[in-house]
Amino acid sequence: MATDLSNRPKLPAEIARRRTFAIISHPDAGKTTLTEKFLLYGGAIQMAGQVRAKGEARRTRSDFMQMEKDRGISVSASAMSFDFSGLRFNLVDTPGHSDFSEDTYRTLTAVDAAVMVIDGAKGVESQTQKLFEVCRLRDLPILTFCNKMDRESRDTFEIIDEIQEMLAIDVTPASWPIGVGSEFMGCYDLLNDRLELMDRADRNKVAESIKIKGLDDPKLAEHLPKHLLEKLLEEVEMARELLPELVPQSVLEGHMTPIWFGSAINSFGVQELMNGIGQYGPEPQVQKAEPRNIAPEETKVSGFVFKVQANMDPKHRDRVAFVRMASGHFKRGMKLTHVRSKKPMAITNPVLFLASDRELAEEAWAGDIIGIPNHGQLRIGDTLTEGELLRVTNIPSFAPELLQGVRAMDPMKSKHLEKALMQFAEEGAAKVFKPSIGSGFIVGVVGALQFEVLASRIELEYGLPVRFEGSQFKSARWVNGERQDVEKFVNLNKQHIAHDHDGDIVYLTRLQWDIDRVERDHKEIKLTATKEMM
Ligand code: G4P
Repeated sequence: MATDLSNRPKLPAEIARRRTFAIISHPDAGKTTLTEKFLLYGGAIQMAGQVRAKGEARRTRSDFMQMEKDRGISVSASAMSFDFSGLRFNLVDTPGHSDFSEDTYRTLTAVDAAVMVIDGAKGVESQTQKLFEVCRLRDLPILTFCNKMDRESRDTFEIIDEIQEMLAIDVTPASWPIGVGSEFMGCYDLLNDRLELMDRADRNKVAESIKIKGLDDPKLAEHLPKHLLEKLLEEVEMARELLPELVPQSVLEGHMTPIWFGSAINSFGVQELMNGIGQYGPEPQVQKAEPRNIAPEETKVSGFVFKVQANMDPKHRDRVAFVRMASGHFKRGMKLTHVRSKKPMAITNPVLFLASDRELAEEAWAGDIIGIPNHGQLRIGDTLTEGELLRVTNIPSFAPELLQGVRAMDPMKSKHLEKALMQFAEEGAAKVFKPSIGSGFIVGVVGALQFEVLASRIELEYGLPVRFEGSQFKSARWVNGERQDVEKFVNLNKQHIAHDHDGDIVYLTRLQWDIDRVERDHKEIKLTATKEMM
């Protein structure tokens, strides 16, 4: 079912069958339920409910996770792989809370498409919109699932209009709902001319599918009550007149999204969506890199780190670097070059995140996500290759919007604190700056909740109670320029200068005015709000 919609050369079959995507949604729209159904259809779990159960088990591990649970947010990301209809799906979980937008952005650099889940009664909600904007920055193809159609939901045209208006994207219906709320019967599959009827009695059953020869097929009347049939015919006629037709190339370019209607909890519409991902969600794409881009069909293996998760098991201080394979056919035990340090690394125990558990990855193809346990060598943005010094770009680090000072409650423990902070900085959980004057650290985050999460994690994972406190600084910018110019600038502005965890120079200030002044008076210096991670 591989798409041949792009102009790229045909991919090797193993790569062409891969679909690597994320789900974006507002909390409560049904992301977890949909994930669970994906896994159910993928044969990765036997029974719905396991994802949640597994989630609970994972969460009880620490109070940090408890916090996550209390707030109903998901702050830790993971990847899951499963097979469906000859395809290999790699689903990358995105953190759900807006405070983690930077993490989300980086996660989205690892996927080729996103599924946007919206609640049929609520339409486009704030978090959906934010996440959508992030996808748009990368022109990611987006497939839409309108969930909870078994409940009272909005008029179908209204939902489609809202998406078009709020997100400025063309929407084309892939299916059309029949009845709403308690009268919801199923959907007419507009792409395959099929009637899909929902079985309310059995939530794990695949919907009954009836082949129809177009909307004037008399068979429709055998299955639908007259008033619903009339409404369906009228609405579909209107939809065909008013809404754009599906143009696969527009979907690939991120200008158009096909929408499926369904009810994840009733397993309804999920299979059609999965088929849609197979058909329109693209195969592994070219990765932007320096000095040249990387195509998935290249025989040499390459991949890049888009996420580092530390202390997945607090008993073992392990870190797992999540690597998106960019090209080739990786085999366990391979020696790859860690481009940043130019050192070889034998990848002996990579893990694959099958839904049921982590297991050793004997092999992986372009498009796959593997986890590489390591002791800190692998950082976000790192590229691994078979020797060529390529560097995947496009994984930015954003200037934090909130800065605070941090202190260990026990002053004797400040070395420990430094270690903990550096680790979180490497993980990408926060920015840590060491001012060149005075002691202590300044921590920068994108959203306020991150301070709480950090304090809680430092205490749990390092046994170190800490206190965050107001800082005299409000903004951070990376300092770029010729070496001598930067040195001169640093000497003149010592009270504003700090180093980040990579040792790069940062200008800290309280006032936007200062930044403007530097830009005006120091043309030789460039202050930037993002830094490409490397
Ligand atoms: P999230 O991950 O996006 O936050 O959403 P999640 O799947 O947890 O779903 C949020 C709530 O919506 C859950 O109810 C879930 O059962 C319900 N839900 C998901 N899909 C559908 C659907 O198609 N129809 C209806 N009617 N409800 C749906 P909950 O009461 O919060 O949790 P639970 O008690 O069911 O576990």
